[in-house]
Amino acid sequence: MTGTMSSTSSAATVPTFAGTSAFEQAAREQELVDRVVASFDACENPRLRQVMQSLSRHLHAFVRDVRLSEPEWDAAIRFLTDCGNITDEHRQEFILLSDVLGASMQTITVDNQAYKNATESTVFGPFHTEDAPHVPLGGNIAPNAPGMPCWVEGTITDTDGDPIPGARIEVWQADDNGLYDVQYDDGRVTGRAWLQSDGVGEYRFWSVKPTPYPIPHDGPVGRLLRSVGRSPYRASHLHFMVTAPGYRRLVTHIFIAGDRQLDAGDSVFGVKDSLIKVFADQDSATPTPDGTDLGGHAWTRTRFDIVLAPEEA
Ligand code: BEZ
Ligand code: FE
Repeated sequence: MTGTMSSTSSAATVPTFAGTSAFEQAAREQELVDRVVASFDACENPRLRQVMQSLSRHLHAFVRDVRLSEPEWDAAIRFLTDCGNITDEHRQEFILLSDVLGASMQTITVDNQAYKNATESTVFGPFHTEDAPHVPLGGNIAPNAPGMPCWVEGTITDTDGDPIPGARIEVWQADDNGLYDVQYDDGRVTGRAWLQSDGVGEYRFWSVKPTPYPIPHDGPVGRLLRSVGRSPYRASHLHFMVTAPGYRRLVTHIFIAGDRQLDAGDSVFGVKDSLIKVFADQDSATPTPDGTDLGGHAWTRTRFDIVLAPEEA
């Protein structure tokens, strides 16, 4: 409660608001934190109790740290309400908010403990679909998508370097216009597929070279980015999700060494140095690895060797 406090009752022990000392103010704020934290003491689920008590402490610490005003609190509630209003089965503004605050990336970092030389994880993003087509090894995952043809190859191994045959490799990416297939309204399916590593743990496919593109920024999260002078752009990347029995699921992507957006910053903090790969551009006269005739187009190639951590890691 704000405003003036009467000093008529218990005047000896309760000072007037105007005369409140910094010590008394801090004591009042701390007393409230303690009561809120204690309100979860009886929670029977220990994990839920831990999460809610820690959340309460950090939330109150934030409010006290920035000396939050009531109009600022109102603005925050209006912002969250706008996030709710734009969210539907196709658009999840709260995940976008978590992404641009780095909270998604921090959760992924905490929940995928570093393990030996296992490949690092990064953000999932909103453009994965469950029904991507199966493409045989060496096939094209981006038929009719605009962009420079791109050969991608690599191995799937465990942390001892032993191959993992039969791993399921899902890949998805935006085209040269910076758009995923699901962002067009013509029902096209391209720039996504699942493949299976062969008997020696290798995989290969054709796609198109990724380009930078903005995260959806026509809603409250975009407004937030503009207010603070941040770009909505993501560094060029190609998504992977790799699963194999007995191994920890890997959700990651690779980035392009030298990509202009790497220096400018990735809007969702997804870049890790270990995931930046050389894409070696080739002129049209250079033979392709599998003999595919690209009709006189220049092309590029990259290699991504993937190391899976054991399930129990
Ligand atoms: C993406 O990589 O597609 C993405 C990730 C986070 C937010 C928006 C898009
Ligand atoms: Fe993406």
